[in-house]
Amino acid sequence: AARRRKELFQCHDLASKYYHHILVNTEAGVPALKYLRERGLTLTTIEEFQLGYAPNRWDVLTNFLKRRGFQEKFLEQAGLLSENGKQPGRYYDRFRGRVMFPIHDGQGRVIGFGGRILGKGEPKYLNSPETELFQKGRQLFNLNRARQHIRQSGKAILLEGYMDVITAHQFGITNAVAALGTALTQDQAKILKRNADEILMMYDGDPAGQKAAFRNSEVILEVDGNPRVAVLPDGLDPDLFLHQYGADAFRRIAEEGSMSITAFKLQVLRNSSQLSSHEGLVHFLSQAVQLIGEVKSPIERETYLRDLAGEFNVSLESLEKEMKMVSSFPK
Ligand code: CTP
Ligand code: MN
Ligand code: MN
Ligand code: MN
Ligand code: MN
Repeated sequence: AARRRKELFQCHDLASKYYHHILVNTEAGVPALKYLRERGLTLTTIEEFQLGYAPNRWDVLTNFLKRRGFQEKFLEQAGLLSENGKQPGRYYDRFRGRVMFPIHDGQGRVIGFGGRILGKGEPKYLNSPETELFQKGRQLFNLNRARQHIRQSGKAILLEGYMDVITAHQFGITNAVAALGTALTQDQAKILKRNADEILMMYDGDPAGQKAAFRNSEVILEVDGNPRVAVLPDGLDPDLFLHQYGADAFRRIAEEGSMSITAFKLQVLRNSSQLSSHEGLVHFLSQAVQLIGEVKSPIERETYLRDLAGEFNVSLESLEKEMKMVSSFPK
């Protein structure tokens, strides 16, 4: 079993080197290299993340790894090849015509890949399947590079995608990781919590990003972590934002613009409320108070209530009464 694991690591290591070689040294890699350069990545970044290219053919990796003595069936179990559904026993390259993002474990060993199509097409990203080495819910993209920076700063920045994390790194923001396109799991949250006092989510500025922030903050709270949220403007994701506005602007939002989950929920509630009408305002305040009622700490609750009271010119007393009322209702 130990030997099998070693061979699984070996074939991933070889595959990532091969894909990288194709990207940077061969004619076949030219369009992919052009694509990545146009997306603003430097050669240094491409090297550092060992990005690669899987040509649009059926047998490139298959032949390469067979020549190195690996069996096709084994490579299929490793998640690198797929089996032909109509002809069992026939295998082909799982990743074709895709930019390859190697996924490393905490110790820097390649355990899987994300593959992005060049331009448009479905699926946009194809990832390695769950294998003995690669359990998506237990890994964080870029943890191997980011861990020491997370520890030093006490802060982990959680982003949505591969490109977000890589571009962040290129811009000197080295404490960012991504949860590999899924909902954050408790295992992932625990890893972050172990290394960071604060977990800052900077998700895409779209409804999906907002939902992910709500949901994932619950997971972080379940493991006693400290979740925070910062929102980028104009529906941009971190990758696009950084290229447009630069690292200083990004840092400013990460620091001055970060808020607690409650503050974030209040902001979302507020943006969707009709504050100009009397009824709208009352409805907003009552929902806001209900939201604040879910905060555990009484001191924290009071500070939110005070802010609301000050801003909307109502008394703290009436907000407190309202809170007792709404929270004494059976749920
Ligand atoms: N993702 C995935 N499979 C998909 C779509 C997305 O695994 N079919 C994951 C990827 O890790 C991706 C992340 O979810 O990086 C965020 O998705 P999205 O915002 O759609 O992609 P971007 O990271 O912004 O990708 P790009 O900038 O390359 O378009
Ligand atoms: Mn190289
Ligand atoms: Mn997105
Ligand atoms: Mn995105
Ligand atoms: Mn993007």
